[in-house]
Amino acid sequence: MRLDTAALQASSMTQGHTGSGERVESRIRFFDFHPTTADVRAEVLEGLSQPHKRLPPKLFYDQQGSRLFDAITELPEYYPTRTEIQILRDHGEAMAEQLGRGCVLIELGSGSSLKIQTLLAALRPRVYIPVDISRAHLLESAQALAERFPELSIRAACADYSGPFELPLEPEWRDLAAFFPGSSIGNFDPDEARAFLKRVGRVLGPGGRLLIGVDLKKERAVLEAAYNDAQGVTAAFNLNLLTRLNSELGADFEVDAFRHRAVFNEDASRIEMHLVSRGNQRVRVAGQVFDVRLGESIHTENSYKYGIEDFQRLARSAGFVSEQVWTDAGELFSVHCLRVEDA
Ligand code: AVI
Repeated sequence: MRLDTAALQASSMTQGHTGSGERVESRIRFFDFHPTTADVRAEVLEGLSQPHKRLPPKLFYDQQGSRLFDAITELPEYYPTRTEIQILRDHGEAMAEQLGRGCVLIELGSGSSLKIQTLLAALRPRVYIPVDISRAHLLESAQALAERFPELSIRAACADYSGPFELPLEPEWRDLAAFFPGSSIGNFDPDEARAFLKRVGRVLGPGGRLLIGVDLKKERAVLEAAYNDAQGVTAAFNLNLLTRLNSELGADFEVDAFRHRAVFNEDASRIEMHLVSRGNQRVRVAGQVFDVRLGESIHTENSYKYGIEDFQRLARSAGFVSEQVWTDAGELFSVHCLRVEDA
């Protein structure tokens, strides 16, 4: 995962100036490791061929999906984003101290890079490496960040971090730290989460630190409201997945023939999102035919909710020591500082 950047298809951004007149493009480099359409097609066909049809949640984040997700984060029912931001604001100095000021900071799933802004002043990383699967969103956000923080050097990497991934790192960099906010860890099943954490641990190396946001288990009503908002934004986000498959893979989903469903599965401690068929239908995707029955669902996302100790146990099983955990007063959300165990 440590790469010789000269060997990469790196490009600088070509527009924009900071207020001080310094050119933004000289401080942003862009690295594209985005999955190909063939990769997406193979994963979609595999998921739809299962006895319980499923689609991977990473496919939510095309340009429109990323916009809808940003809208979700501002909904009154969706407590995780504002609660996590408040925790970051309240404890930013302590977090920066723990991560190591002046480090090389990798943010996984950086989205609109809003949360990192609460830490940048205290942390002052030498290099910031936002990693996201949505290329357009990543570029827009990197540009906005470079304008706002004229000192910051940025290497933006478009990559799918749900499997093995590459990063634009220099071999001599030793002081790496990672930030994985938003409880995106909850979108992995526990085994996938463990495998992901192990990969991050290998990138960071012994002693490296990971600051990670984890949504906490709570009453069903609060959880279900957060994924069934009154304005229907989460429904639009879920259904947009079908629109995306129609435009990118030439599928012929009738989007109105599905409805959004989100429920808390107490036994598995996860919110499940589904697209439920409103009738019997036949769908073509990339030349293959799938029959979907009335009431049958395509499972699009899990969002696991952890107790603090459950999460610490998971982190330990992936080779991390739990150093510190911060929560809000209502114990809705947690932010953990983990350290990779010494070899
Ligand atoms: C990105 N991820 C942590 C969100 C979540 O809460 O699981 C995605 C999301 N799905 C529906 N609403 C938000």
